[in-house]
Amino acid sequence: MAREADLSSSREGLLKHGAATLSRDSLDNYSSSSELDLDELELLEGQTSPRPRGEWSPSKRKKKDNGKEKEHKRAQKAKRKGGWLRSKICWVVSAILLGGLLVLLGGFQTFVYKKPQPMDGLSPPWYPSPKGGTYLQWQKSYLMAATLVSKMSLVEKVNVTTGTGWASDLCVGNTAGAFDAGFPPLCLQDGPLGIRFADHATAWPAGITVGATWNKDLMYKRGRGLGLEHRLKGVNVMLGPAMGPMGRMPGGGRNWEGFGSDPVLQGIAAAQTIRGIQDEGVIATAKHYIANEQEHFRQAREWELPNAISSNIDDRTLHELYLWPFADSIRAGVGSIMCSYNMVNSSSACSNSKLLNGVLKDELGFQGFVQSDWLAQRSGVASALAGLDMTMPGDGLIWADGQSLWGPRLTEAVLNGSVPIERINDMALRTVAVWYQLGQDNQTLFPIPLEGNPRPNFSSWTNDKMGHLHESTDDDTMVVVNNFTDVQGDGKNFHGRLAQEIAAEGTVLVKNKDNILPLSPSGGPEHARGRRRAKYNVGVFGEDAGPNPKGPNACADRSCNDFTLASGWGSGAVEFPFLTPPIEALESTFDLDQVQITQVLTNDLPNDWSAVHGTQDLCIVFITSDAGEGFASWNHITDRIDLYPQKGGDDLVKKVAASCANTIVIVHAVGAVILERWIDLPNIKAVVLANLPGEESGNALADVLFGRVDVSGRLPYTVGKSLSDYGPGGKIMSKPNGIAPQQDFKEGLLIDYRHFDANSITPRYEFGFGLSYTTFTFSDLNLKTLKPKTLLPSPRPNATVLPPTFSTLLPDPETAVFPAGFRKLKNYIYPYLDNSTIKPEPYPYPSGYNTPQPPSPAGGGEGGNPSLYDEHVSVSVNVTNTGKRTGKQVVQVYVSFPSDVTDVSTGRKIDFPVRVLRGFEKAEINATETTTVEVNLTRKDLSYWSVGRQNWVMPDGEFTVAVGASSRDLPLQGSW
Ligand code: BGC
Repeated sequence: MAREADLSSSREGLLKHGAATLSRDSLDNYSSSSELDLDELELLEGQTSPRPRGEWSPSKRKKKDNGKEKEHKRAQKAKRKGGWLRSKICWVVSAILLGGLLVLLGGFQTFVYKKPQPMDGLSPPWYPSPKGGTYLQWQKSYLMAATLVSKMSLVEKVNVTTGTGWASDLCVGNTAGAFDAGFPPLCLQDGPLGIRFADHATAWPAGITVGATWNKDLMYKRGRGLGLEHRLKGVNVMLGPAMGPMGRMPGGGRNWEGFGSDPVLQGIAAAQTIRGIQDEGVIATAKHYIANEQEHFRQAREWELPNAISSNIDDRTLHELYLWPFADSIRAGVGSIMCSYNMVNSSSACSNSKLLNGVLKDELGFQGFVQSDWLAQRSGVASALAGLDMTMPGDGLIWADGQSLWGPRLTEAVLNGSVPIERINDMALRTVAVWYQLGQDNQTLFPIPLEGNPRPNFSSWTNDKMGHLHESTDDDTMVVVNNFTDVQGDGKNFHGRLAQEIAAEGTVLVKNKDNILPLSPSGGPEHARGRRRAKYNVGVFGEDAGPNPKGPNACADRSCNDFTLASGWGSGAVEFPFLTPPIEALESTFDLDQVQITQVLTNDLPNDWSAVHGTQDLCIVFITSDAGEGFASWNHITDRIDLYPQKGGDDLVKKVAASCANTIVIVHAVGAVILERWIDLPNIKAVVLANLPGEESGNALADVLFGRVDVSGRLPYTVGKSLSDYGPGGKIMSKPNGIAPQQDFKEGLLIDYRHFDANSITPRYEFGFGLSYTTFTFSDLNLKTLKPKTLLPSPRPNATVLPPTFSTLLPDPETAVFPAGFRKLKNYIYPYLDNSTIKPEPYPYPSGYNTPQPPSPAGGGEGGNPSLYDEHVSVSVNVTNTGKRTGKQVVQVYVSFPSDVTDVSTGRKIDFPVRVLRGFEKAEINATETTTVEVNLTRKDLSYWSVGRQNWVMPDGEFTVAVGASSRDLPLQGSW
């Protein structure tokens, strides 16, 4: 193990002594942005990149190819050669130029050398890594796992912890297994919207659309569908759901993979999804842990910088905002958590002992395994000590070079005593325990891979039947790798039906003047049906209404905004088995005997379009806004730097509306879009925010437009009037402010609607808002105390179960050497060593390593101290459907904390957001009927995180509980 390198890449190794948990105050003092840093970077930028200033985009170029094989080659090229080579050349050229400059500038040298060093040590140490196997509900799995792990040799344990390398096996992530002990290789596959790189699988609506349904039952059912499909394709670990990014910045490139800009909405949706996935036996992965809020600079090298961005976040914000959905996921029993690329408080998220050992494994009692995002591991020994359990895809600092930071290096580190043998035992044990916990030892459900019958039954790297088992290696043997198993269900169980239902419920109607919607198939609004004699003219405008002539998968990883938009791009995107474009559904729903449809499926419309295309009674205009993951870009976009519609969408809408008295706008987008350039035009009668609907896009939209279902989506984010309305924290950092960009989350808890409320900014459409085709009233709010108020949760319960123990004797190094005659594949990562000369030696452990931390008082159960989940208040309310048709209403419960709260431990005043969402229920109600809806509030819902006490505190004083239809439409309020 290259120890120096290892230690210096670990921020933990350079901790400032005595650094405490970062509090709000310490964050306020922690200002990292500096003009000088920026100047240096601009100097570098000018030297290394031909791009104009201000356009930072990922070094991995956008791919043009279609198909998995090409995609793989692209990825290989970009990741192995293009990206690295390019940035290597860039850095060499920069270094030479900079070197020359330094010689010339003499005294300036010291400054330039010192200044770009990343900051270190703002995340406190937390050691040793807590062992898994401490809860009753996991006991049986841990006991079985202990029996299995005790049969494993050291190299087999290493195999369980280390991926075999990018594209070395069939999935995007693979472990090699421990055959002698009886543990199979594992296949880890994206992702949150369906099975990436697979055929005959459903392209589900995106997370943001699921969030917009506010429907817990649909969240669970989609999870179940995802789980079933992954299992039938032979995937052990699904790389989703995503719950980070949270949506701090409305333009965050991957916000659409998650469920919306609120921790409670994210937490409930994530937990429901996880329950669904895991009820099918597939291990879910809660990702990306944590504070991975933007794509720019998310990882080293991708953005031509040697370091990832550091999200600098205070302890209270971490707990009350970004950690919340992860806590809910752990409580739902999630098997795996993926640590993210970025640094948090200047310590890499995947070697941050406070976040992994302290917060996840001690405080939240996580019993599963932590895997790294792909190449997010930046250190070897340090990350193992900090609590990382599995490295993915196995390669170390560079894609597909076969040089792992673990693999043989981990074997060596265990043998030379740097990584305690207890740690590797715990790493392997956690993974095997999850495998048992999910029932993957059931060979009927998870057949053991056999010669001639590989599992998974598809390859990520080719669409052909025959392909390589080890694509990135020098093994050229061709075998059957795709058997084209159709996992989409059929008949009544065809998953597309559920996908359509979700996409329809995730569609939000924000404007409906004159009740123009729903439409009648014979044309015009449903309520005006039957009054016409001549044919009714409907114009359909915009590229987004139509299919891509090259097919829905024309751009690799969906990284372009061409034709109808149903998904963002990146690893969260899937191959569409089909994509129903809106125009097709409109044509098949309108009665063409009575309606004349004119299609103008382009965004380039002449001003006098009606002279060319005819006067229209009704115009439906489609516009988009797209974004995606940082390894690809489209039109210089990864994150959205502005929130306007793309591809001339605003102009298109204005032109259509100028000559069409009844204009309906449909927006397909990855998140909030600024509608201000036309929203108040009198001819704009309706606006439908259809989010990202997945494969059944057109059908789901038609269900809503024609009122086959009530429109019941509610906004999972705020639609502001401008990007600056979201506050300074809402802007993407698109230019780095240092060699390790520093992003201070200074707004604390005040993101999205909380910022608008705190600053009395009127949004265009508030969080939680959405119209229905019927009307509802709320009455009879009743708050019942279920448990009295007390300041603190019960004391942390003592562990009733002890983790399994193993022999601590180090194995004979001879057992870790490559077996004689072993055929090594190039770039494949093995656990073996070349020789057995390894000996125990002293290791320079990170500061704080020898000071065991006390258990957190907030811990003691999965998701934290069980008493945090005690229900203290029952909120019940009557909802009446006062309209003429059955409809669905989302009952939203917001809590305002007491004013004048002083933290007893610090004597400091605690500020709260104006109100926070704490629960919701969706109810279907027939016309004129009333339903009682109940939402219970837990201790955690009614507590704040006290930095002084390091615990949740339920403050004294009066809480206000407000109930209604959105964050700003809260007709009922009560006190508790
Ligand atoms: C993404 C992860 C994904 C992984 C594997 C990474 O670039 O951030 O979300 O699961 O790749 O494809």
